[in-house]
Amino acid sequence: PESGPSPAQGVGPLYRPDGEKPTATVSKEVSYENVHVLPQTPQLIALLTMIRDKRTSRADFIFYSNRIIRLLVEEGLNHLPVVEQSITTPVGRSYLGVKFEGKICGVSIMRAGEAMEQGLRDCCRSVRIGKILIQRDEETCMPKLFYDKLPTDIADRWVLLLDPMFATGGSATLAVETLIERGVPEHRILFLNLIASPSGVAEFAERFPKLRVVTSFIDQGLDEKKYIIPGLGDFGDRYYSM
Ligand code: PRP
Ligand code: URA
Repeated sequence: PESGPSPAQGVGPLYRPDGEKPTATVSKEVSYENVHVLPQTPQLIALLTMIRDKRTSRADFIFYSNRIIRLLVEEGLNHLPVVEQSITTPVGRSYLGVKFEGKICGVSIMRAGEAMEQGLRDCCRSVRIGKILIQRDEETCMPKLFYDKLPTDIADRWVLLLDPMFATGGSATLAVETLIERGVPEHRILFLNLIASPSGVAEFAERFPKLRVVTSFIDQGLDEKKYIIPGLGDFGDRYYSM
């Protein structure tokens, strides 16, 4: 393990006193301004407990992962810019609100990142989606880029980069470098992720200080095979083929 255990904290309804809440391991905290960790609510921790459990069936793994993905997408959208918009309601009154500014697209890191596409589509109707096929070499754990197909006007869009697992950070780094080569400014990239390692996230946040990371959990560390621990195993295998 690369660092100590994550903190245990009382997780339960807010109205319960701390001593009466069940204790659970929650995400490590990070002090990078560009890394946002979802609030460690009882709901999120229960969903994560389901997908981390090795006894969870594939059907349940898909169902509960999809729920966390939906939370990530909803939170990720809060990091996109909005502008003021005044509208008139059916009863003739005006209301000052906001609307999203700018065009977006999703880019999934195949294969596991494709599992996050539907959650994005559910929130952003007919969103354009690009793909980058990056695979980690099983021996060296180094990422290799095989293929990419991105919207032609991607340089004009905000990009929601999708990958559930962030271990060494090598795959996400290669994906970001590919996007930057295609003209996407770093500050218009938002990386949505389920579980990250503390070292991966720290290196990434320092290397790309202008992009934002939204993750649901920063875990304890990596094992000798560079798997996240306690982690959930191989996300792609559990979602697609186990
Ligand atoms: C997994 C995962 C990430 C990557 C994380 O993909 O989905 O893309 O590993 O590891 P890293 O941060 O150390 O690069 P993998 O290459 O195993 O392919 P898969 O999506 O087909 O399972
Ligand atoms: N890829 C995964 O799916 N899980 C890990 O823990 C690391 C890489």
